[in-house]
This record gives sequence, structure tokens and C-alpha cells, in this order.
Amino acid sequence: MAQLNIVFIASEATPLAKTGGLADVVGSLPHALKQLGHDVTIILPFYRQHLIKNNIQTQALPQTIEMWADHKQHLCPLHEAKVDGLRFALIEQDDLFDREGLYGPAGGAYDDNLLRFALFDRVALEAAATLNKRVDILHCHDWQTGLIPLLLKTQYQHYANIAKAKTVYTIHNLAYQGVFPADWIHRLGLPTHHFHPDGYEFYGQINCMKAGIESADMITTVSPTYAQEILTPEYGCNLEGFLKQHSQKLTGIVNGLDIDDWNPATDKTLAANFAAGKIAGKAKCKQALQQQAGLDIDAKVPLLTLISRLAEQKGIDLLLANATTWLERGYQLAILGSGESADEHALSKLAKAYPKQMYFFCGFDENLARQIYAAGDIFLMPSRFEPCGLGQLMAMRYGNIPVVRATGGLKDTVIDYNQVKSKSTGFHFEAASAQAFDVAVEQAISAFQTPTIWSRIRNRALNRDSSWQASAQTYADLYQTLLKPAPKKKVRKTTSRKTKPRK
Ligand code: GLC
Repeated sequence: MAQLNIVFIASEATPLAKTGGLADVVGSLPHALKQLGHDVTIILPFYRQHLIKNNIQTQALPQTIEMWADHKQHLCPLHEAKVDGLRFALIEQDDLFDREGLYGPAGGAYDDNLLRFALFDRVALEAAATLNKRVDILHCHDWQTGLIPLLLKTQYQHYANIAKAKTVYTIHNLAYQGVFPADWIHRLGLPTHHFHPDGYEFYGQINCMKAGIESADMITTVSPTYAQEILTPEYGCNLEGFLKQHSQKLTGIVNGLDIDDWNPATDKTLAANFAAGKIAGKAKCKQALQQQAGLDIDAKVPLLTLISRLAEQKGIDLLLANATTWLERGYQLAILGSGESADEHALSKLAKAYPKQMYFFCGFDENLARQIYAAGDIFLMPSRFEPCGLGQLMAMRYGNIPVVRATGGLKDTVIDYNQVKSKSTGFHFEAASAQAFDVAVEQAISAFQTPTIWSRIRNRALNRDSSWQASAQTYADLYQTLLKPAPKKKVRKTTSRKTKPRK
């Protein structure tokens, strides 16, 4: 198979800058593509404060790209970082990216986000054209890079190195589309002839995700079920009709994990290591967390866990509706997350009321997250929608059995006990209701209380292949298909046909 020159363009990637699952995917899929023999460069904004905080060494490159936007010239020096063998090209524009947040202050969005990412998109295209020899694939992610496929086709065809590149646009979450007032079209020089309902116009405004969907050669989303769901009004976020028009180029590919990084047998942050067949360490992890969090130390009590952004999408209301009941039944709860302040308050209040049974850490701490994955018996993911979800993959890898709403990637990656007992790795519930959630949790608890059943489920979860291997191959195949020359059209012979003289 030919070696491809692939450029990822995205707004976040581990370990440089992260707010969510997008960063995990952009930081790990390229490793798997490299292992398949391809060359991958990742282009990101130079988020000065995050690079410093995350101890990322960077080197200035000789190029500075000059870009006009919003009646102003912006100078954008390029930098490079080599992290675990992966090459990142970073675009500096301190006025726009040297900030505390990636997209806004906690819980908010910066007013100039369209300027920030439209400028980044243009500079990234120029950088891709100058840094690499010939780009085969430009792989863009989420609304922040949605303009790239459109700009490439309409305004960047004079750059020989990228003109023929095929574009792949991955939707990680359709709920964030990047919608902005139309007056930016002129301020940013966006192509006006695509500003209509079949292009990037959306109720009179600019919609960056529509630009990506319209112009990309292929659209992917992060699980097969989510690829179906977004064609329906329930999940389509008002783009279901538009997506249907483009459904012939839409496909769902499930995310993987960096399984070397997420490995309970070697994870140094854990009180003890463990693996399928060598499970003793998991009980030590549970005991260590109970102790550290001030919970009753008890191996037999079920420890329910949740690690999540506290947002409407994640079904935190369904958790809150049940939490008191579960605590009253004697279960323990360990929760890590931050987000909507009403949820933060409600969880803090509960943790104060049940200090020996409930632990709530408000914020994000990766080491603590690992300790909770390792300590937990049951992992809760009651999402209203979930494009893929990574928490359930991490949980299974750490022998923490997921109870999930049967939606998107949760449905595709967790095998339900009620459907195929002999293969099950967790429990599903269908309706987004507190009651349905409780029924599934109770089922998990009764399995937990039957050690033979539990150890089988847990072994299957621990042994599940959550690596990138299969999905990276699927992406690579898709890239190759896009690059195959289109079959030649048959030329109709016209020479031998005698044309009747016109009367
Ligand atoms: C978004 C989605 C999540 C997905 C992640 C990576 O954060 O909400 O479901 O796993 O992107 O693709």
C-alpha cells in the first residue's frame, strides 16, 4: 500500500492542549496511522499558556505567514514540536491564542472565535502547502476546521502541494456547529457564492460545520450508530436534512484508545497494577480510593463511578434524580467532573450529606481519573447523546463495568448483558429516563453480587480490544479509496455514426 502524506488540522490534541475527547483522538489516531506506514503531521494553534503548562518543548521554524483578516494584518510565526515521535506544526498568533482557555473562559466562548479559527484555517492551509512536499489527505475535525474544505476548493487551488489533496471532515459532536453573524463573510473574505441554504448559510448566519459537510470529499463521524442518528430530527441538531443530502459520503468509524497509555498493568498512577487473570491489584485500587476520599473502606460495597463534563448532553440530571436513592441503598459514588454550576452545586451538596459514601471532585485531574477508573466497580454513562464516548472504553480497559444509555458509540462499544449474555461487557438502557437508568444500575448491582457472573463480565471488559488498530486501518482504506483515480468515462464513438442531414 502506498505511503500517504496526511495532515491533520484540529483545534486540540493531547498532550499539547485538551478540553475533551477530540484531543484524545487527534493525539492518538496519528500514531496508529504512522504504524501503518503513513506520514502524519498535525497542525494546531500555538496555545502558549497550555504548551507551557503541559511542558511541551517547541522550536521556532523559519517561516512566518502573513494573513489579512478583519481589516488587519496578522503575523503568524510557525513552530514545531516533536512529541513521542509525532510532528506538530503550531501556528502562533498571540493576540488570538495566548489565552487561558482554548475556546473561552470557563463555561463561555470568546467573542472573536470565528476570527480566531477562520484565520487559523487559512494559515493552516498555507502551512500545509509549505511544510510538506505533496499532501494527499487533509483531515479536519469539528467546526473549528469546517471552513478548510470549502476554502481549499474555492480559494487555495493555486497552491500546488495541496490543490489535489482530498479532504476528510470528522464530526466529533454535531451539537457544536460554529454559528456566527453573516457580516463576518466580508470581514474574513469567505466565498459569498456558497452562502446559501445548500452551502454554509444557516438561518441567515454562517455555519462552519455546514461548510465542512458541503465541501469535504468524505464526512466521518465517530461511531456507526451516531452516523445514523444524526440523520434524524432527534439527533440531527437541525442539520438532519442537509446531512441526508450528503449521506452518500457519510460514514461512522468508532474511536480507539492509546492502549499503551491506558493500561492498568503498567499505569504508574495506580496504587497497584492489574490485568485480566491478575485482578488482585484492582481491589487495592478500590481500597486506596476509598481511603483517600474518606469513604468507608469496604470491598463488598458497590462503588459507582462517573467521570464526565457536567453538561446536559451527559445526562447528569438522570444521575442526580437517582443519586439519593442509591446512597440510601448503601452504594458508594465517586464522581469527577466540572461544568454547569447547578450540577456542581447539587453534587457538592450530596457529597457533604453522605461523606462516607460519596466523593465529588469538582474539576479535572487526569491521575485521579485513572485512579477512579481503576477503583470503580460500575461506570455510569447516561448520555442523552454520545457520538463515540471514550470514558466507557477507558472504564472497560480498567475493569470498571459500564452502564450506558444505548446511544451512539456507547451502543456500538458496550455489549449489553440483556442482549448477548455470553459476550456482554456492560449494561444498556434505552429511554433517557431516571427510571430506566435505575433499572439498568440495579441489574448491574445484582450481577456484581454474583461473583461468578461478575468476574466473567469483567474479564471480557478487560480483554476487549479498544486499540486504534482496526479503526486506523478503516481510515487508511478510506483515504486510499478517495485517492483512487475516478474510473474513466466511456467515450462514445461518434465517428462511424452517420448523422442524418437536418431537414
Ligand atoms: C466529542 C464527543 C465524544 C467523542 C469525542 C471524540 O467529545 O462528545 O462522544 O468520543 O468527541 O471523538
